[in-house]
Amino acid sequence: MQHYEALRHFAKNTFGIEQYLYRWSTQDLSTLDNVPYIGPMTKKHPNILIATGFKKWGMTTSHLAAMLLRDYILGKRNSYNELFSPIRFEAAPMVRTFLSTNLDVAKHFVKDKFDLQNQNICELQKDEAAIFRIKGKRAGAYKDKNGKLFIVDTTCTHLGCELQWNSGDRTWDCPCHGSRFNITGEVIEGPAKQPLTILNIEE
Ligand code: FES
Repeated sequence: MQHYEALRHFAKNTFGIEQYLYRWSTQDLSTLDNVPYIGPMTKKHPNILIATGFKKWGMTTSHLAAMLLRDYILGKRNSYNELFSPIRFEAAPMVRTFLSTNLDVAKHFVKDKFDLQNQNICELQKDEAAIFRIKGKRAGAYKDKNGKLFIVDTTCTHLGCELQWNSGDRTWDCPCHGSRFNITGEVIEGPAKQPLTILNIEE
């Protein structure tokens, strides 16, 4: 939410914009060394080509990817092949980053399971969400602007990390691999494919 506010201030102070009709945010993929992957996915599968990890620079890097992949398919030498090769994982710093990234995922997986607020669901304000334990399950509750409650099991249906509330977009987001769910538990962004389980406090 504070990021949207910061943008609003920036737009107002820099361009004098007072009113904005829409706001939008997204996630993006970055690689371990922040350089995109463009080329054959693995040594074993030289005919499966990928182009990813553009880190918000898709409009320019997609052109670069098209040229590199074109040359690869035509068997033409391109001096940038190695730089962007997806199979460049020998360097130690990348391995360290890889390990710390995965340790971070593990940390979220364990810590977030026990991270509960000491709050009663009845105290939830309109347009507010919080984590509760309902019938022994970690649950996420959101009360909309009309006072209607939406309660979901916050266990991500991808690999089981615990979701966190995104108050800017009003979504449940996964800190592990980026899946996102709306307030009724539907997937709005993968890798998760299955919706969240809806919980009912009245049962
Ligand atoms: S565990 Fe949630 S996206 Fe992987």
